[in-house]
Amino acid sequence: MTEKPVINYGLEGIYVDESAISKVDGQNGKLWYRGYSVESLAEQSNFEEVCYLLLNGKLPSKAEYDEFSRKLWNRRDLPAEVKDIIKVMAPRSHPMDIMRTATSMLVMYDNDPNNKENSATLDKVITLIAKLPSIAAATGRFREKKEYIPPDDSLSIPSNFLYMLTGKKPTKFESKLIDLMFILHAEHSTNASTFSVLVTASTLADVYAATTSGIGTLKGPLHGGADEAALSMMNAIGNPDNTEKYIEEALEGKQRIMGFGHRVYKTYDPRAKLVRSYLEESLTKEPSDEVRRLLQIALRAEKLMIDKLGSTKGIWPNIDFFAGPLYRVMGIEGQMFTPIFVASRMAGWGSHIVEYWHNNKLVRPVEWYTGQLDLKYIPMSER
Ligand code: SDX
Repeated sequence: MTEKPVINYGLEGIYVDESAISKVDGQNGKLWYRGYSVESLAEQSNFEEVCYLLLNGKLPSKAEYDEFSRKLWNRRDLPAEVKDIIKVMAPRSHPMDIMRTATSMLVMYDNDPNNKENSATLDKVITLIAKLPSIAAATGRFREKKEYIPPDDSLSIPSNFLYMLTGKKPTKFESKLIDLMFILHAEHSTNASTFSVLVTASTLADVYAATTSGIGTLKGPLHGGADEAALSMMNAIGNPDNTEKYIEEALEGKQRIMGFGHRVYKTYDPRAKLVRSYLEESLTKEPSDEVRRLLQIALRAEKLMIDKLGSTKGIWPNIDFFAGPLYRVMGIEGQMFTPIFVASRMAGWGSHIVEYWHNNKLVRPVEWYTGQLDLKYIPMSER
């Protein structure tokens, strides 16, 4: 009888590949995209430039940036049938189900979906980076029974998303906030949805199939869905003075507080720090009473969770905790948060597909069998 091996449930701590796209330092709370700290990119770059960096491994020259951005901006509109399916699903489906379905349809417009030439893959990824924000915005419009708003060519990808969603051109501050959220959500090594994308890509399925796998995976509340769940919790708390009681009771009931904890970060998620600082800056811009209330709840929850579980269990705020209140500064509804995560993370998913196909290997782990063997088959009449 062979010895039972050590089993790493959830592949915890298992290295499955080498990659030069991003590094997550969980002990020190640091994150780099292609060697650049996420703080430096958040402060000095923009989403289009970060997409170029992730896909190509270097910052673009002005000419490269202009050509890349123009390509993205020219592909943002949606085919009629895609708008139709979003309209059909909007009254009864969660926006993440619409994102998954509408994105999957895009393969119909690609006359060579299985072409895996590097340039062809990059081109498909650029199309998806351009179209996913429009699918998210159209989903938000149709859910509110409003008309589709075509893209505005004078706006960046993140600002155009906000314009297509709200019908209003974003203010300078809103443009900075939405660009920040697109940059911070763009890439994070082999998180569950990126790994799901790679498992699908490793079978040599096409980019659309791999992306659809990623969207399905990102939906879960343990992953991308935590931002919406964290806001729901803050709304359930309602009055900031209820915060401590609510959290204590939830923890006593062995509930997980959404927006806290991380498989890799065992200290403060550097992205959460940035979101929190911009959320506090929004206080200087006459925020709504709702945002003020949410921020008070969030800061009290943060203090309690860090005091109780920070140093003892390495459970700290992650990117999803302060995201909700910041999206509310822009008037975005909770169910739209994870679709924004999808629209941004397409840059990371696409970069990993491009990199992985340079040295493809089918992903196929093993499991330790605990069942019986060689049982005698008993015909149904004798059971
Ligand atoms: C994202 O991986 C990435 O990079 C993801 C991401 C990205 O950019 O792609 O960073 C984005 O998904 C961030 C995480 C969003 N998810 C949440 O906020 C959901 C709440 N968090 C958790 O459920 C949890 O922290 C996970 C799932 C994120 C990570 O959990 P692990 O590493 O699998 O650890 P675990 O679930 O085994 O928990 C270990 C202990 C348990 O207690 P014990 O059974 O040991 O007593 O910590 C506890 C857990 O109950 N715990 C929590 C908690 N998270 C873990 N307790 C209360 N609240 C929490 N949030």
